[in-house]
Order: sequence, then structure tokens, then C-alpha cells
Amino acid sequence: MTPHRLHGPMTCQRKGPLQGAIEVPGDKSISHRALLFAALATSPSRVRGLLDAGDVHSTRRAIEALGALVRDEGAYVVVEPPERLREPADVVDCGNSGTSLRLLAGVLSGVPGLSVLTGDESLRRRPVRRVIDPLRHMGAVLHARDGDRLPPLVIRGGALRGTRHVLPVASAQVKSACLLAGLLAEGDTTVTEPALSRDHTERMLAAMGVKLKIDGLSVTVSPGRPRGCTLEVPGDISSAAFFLCAAAALPRSEVTVKNCGLNPSRTGVLDVLEAMGAELWVANRTDDGEPRGDVTVRPGMLQGTVIEGALVPRLIDELPVLMVLATQAEGRTVIRDAKELRVKESDRLAVMGEALQAAGARIELFEDGCAIEGPTRLRGVEVRTRLDHRIAMSMAVAQLFAGGEPVRLDDVACVATSFPRFFELLDRLSGGGA
Ligand code: S3P
Repeated sequence: MTPHRLHGPMTCQRKGPLQGAIEVPGDKSISHRALLFAALATSPSRVRGLLDAGDVHSTRRAIEALGALVRDEGAYVVVEPPERLREPADVVDCGNSGTSLRLLAGVLSGVPGLSVLTGDESLRRRPVRRVIDPLRHMGAVLHARDGDRLPPLVIRGGALRGTRHVLPVASAQVKSACLLAGLLAEGDTTVTEPALSRDHTERMLAAMGVKLKIDGLSVTVSPGRPRGCTLEVPGDISSAAFFLCAAAALPRSEVTVKNCGLNPSRTGVLDVLEAMGAELWVANRTDDGEPRGDVTVRPGMLQGTVIEGALVPRLIDELPVLMVLATQAEGRTVIRDAKELRVKESDRLAVMGEALQAAGARIELFEDGCAIEGPTRLRGVEVRTRLDHRIAMSMAVAQLFAGGEPVRLDDVACVATSFPRFFELLDRLSGGGA
């Protein structure tokens, strides 16, 4: 495989079909949690399959700043937690990673001392009031720029009290921030969300011995430190989705992603692929707390579909590539209830809408989603990736439907935040043509 340099512009010009079996890197959400929860634990933890990419490096540096020792030991990353988390000596830079910033906000609210969390230009445009409000309720002192809206986020950590939170949006980052603060609080903390967001935090904390009660859409945590454990991180279904969606629409494709995470709070993309008419099956299912298996997709006669309601949090990060797929399906695909897409690494509705429209797609944007009419043969375009890895990778997939025309991405450095080997794997599946 040709190594690709992940900085500056890149021109994509590949052809389908996609064929082969691959493994994708470790799940990003689970990797962040593994490091952070291990840093809070009472004994060392060992993690295998941890994602080796920019966002997780941000969390690793952050826990080191809080006193954890992290070392690589063969296939494992070993985390030795400090006796007590300490006030970081400098500003903590979370880079591009919203998960690092929001989960750390929960932890640092319970660490005596002053912390400042910041990030790159993209992260400093993303909302933080959603964590400030509930954490203030628990007794923490937090301030942010622009009337408490945007990072940097300043936290004066201290004694916290357990509280009941009713979240206005389904957000695993906010839910997790509250639960982590709850571990360091006095009394129980309950979080209720409007729809189930990814539940990796609940699963991992329970596996680490934390007292946790789940009742429908509510989760209650009792204070206490997790105990160290050994974890195996499955492949990231959000990374797998780029290849699975491409294979669903490119004639003569067949792609298998081995050891792919299959947590039901993340598998909405597979439900949609089936609903649209792709052929899909799962082999070698196992479950050690986080279900996983080998997922194979073959193309079908794709039909438009409706993506809304409780399905949306189960595929929120896959919507950009699903928008690409919708351009290849017969009829109308409607996405609703996805306003959250506007506050990701970029405004993904606007950016994908603009890029796909420029590529010839028939797309109508709404405040909370879009409608896409297909099928359309796309054209080559120039895309501004705007520090958003999923825009870059989705438009690299869109190029496969552009009849051999090139898609030029102005900057692919962002891909290194979650999936540094994305283009190599795409080359391998598409038979090497770059
Ligand atoms: C994540 C939660 C989601 C998701 C993000 C990762 C997590 O964000 O979009 O990529 O690991 O908890 P929200 O919690 O803001 O919905």
C-alpha cells in the first residue's frame, strides 16, 4: 500500500468496485474512555487495540498532565493512575477532539484546582454551555468565552454534589461528563436523555466495578473510583462505515470489516444500509461487554429511506457518508432530527450539502436535516474539508461515484484525527489506484 502524506491537499481519483477484507482502527469513543477511566482508577489498566490517532493522543496527553503514567507495552497501552488526579501545570490542549474536552470537563470539575481546556480552531467554535450548565448544578465553577458558549473552558474544580440531570439533547459526551463528575461527587447522580446516545461509558464503568443503575433512558451512578481492568477495543464502526456505504452502492463490490464494534447504540448505519436494500451480514459475533463481529456488505438496488427520531443518535457520525450514499439510491432520502450535525467538527449539514450540490447532487437542506433525490452520477469537485475528518473521508467516497473524475480535497491533515490509514485502506480495497 502506498503511504499517503496527511497534510495539505490531496486529489482522489479511484475506481470501484471495492473488494476485500480489512480491519479498521480501534473505536475512538471507546479509546478515549479507556484512557480517561483508567486514569481515575485505583489500579493499573491494560488496553489493547487502542486507536492510535490524533484525537486519542489528545486524551493521552491530558491524562498525563493530570498525573497518569502511560506506556506502550507490545500490543497494549498500560495506564498507571496517580494516587489522586492533580491540577494540570498548563493549559490542556484537546486539539480537534470534542470528546476529550467534554469528558475532561466532567472529571476536572471534581479535581481541586484550576484547569483550562482549549483546542484547535474547529473545537473552539463548538458549544460548551451544554456541559457548563449541568456541571454548575453539581457545584463546579466553570467559565467559557463568548458568554460561556465557546472554549477555552476554565474550570475551578472542587467538592461536587450528586444531581439529577434531564438533558435537552441526546449527547453521549454530555451524559458522560455528568456521570464522570458523579463519580467524584457526594451522593448519586442521575442523567436522563431524550433518546439513547452511545452507552460506552455505562458499559465500561460497570466493567470497572462502578455502581451503576440503568432504567430506560436514565442512568444513575454512585460515587467511587473504578478499578483497573484489561480492555479490548473493537474496530470503529464509524470508520468502517465509509467502506461499507461505498460497497453498498458500487456494483460488484464486497467488503468485509473484521472485528467491527456492534454496540446497538452505534449500529444505526447497518439498519439503514439494510433498509435501503444493501446485502449485509454479520459473522463471528462475540461480546465481552462491547459486542463485535465481522460485517460484510454487498451492493443492492438501493432505495431512498427516512432517517429520523431515535435512529439519529445511533448513526450521528455516519450521516455525512450516508448523505453520499443517498445520492446513489433510487428516490428520496429524508434526514430529520439531526440538528446536532451543525455543531460537529464543522457544520456538517451545510458543508456536505454544499459539496454534494457542487458535485451535482439534488439536495435540499433543512435546519435539522435534508432531502436527497437520487440516483445521480456525481462530478469531480473541489472540497474545503474545514478541519473535519468526516467531510474529507465522505467526499473521498463520493469521488467513487464521480465516473472517474477527480475530487480535490484542500487539506487532508484532519483525517489523522481518527483514521490515519484511511486512504491506504481505500487504495487496497479499490485495487490500488489512487
Ligand atoms: C461521542 C459522542 C457524539 C459523537 C462524537 C463522539 C462520544 O457526540 O458525535 O463523535 O464519544 O461520546 P455528542 O455527544 O455531542 O452527540
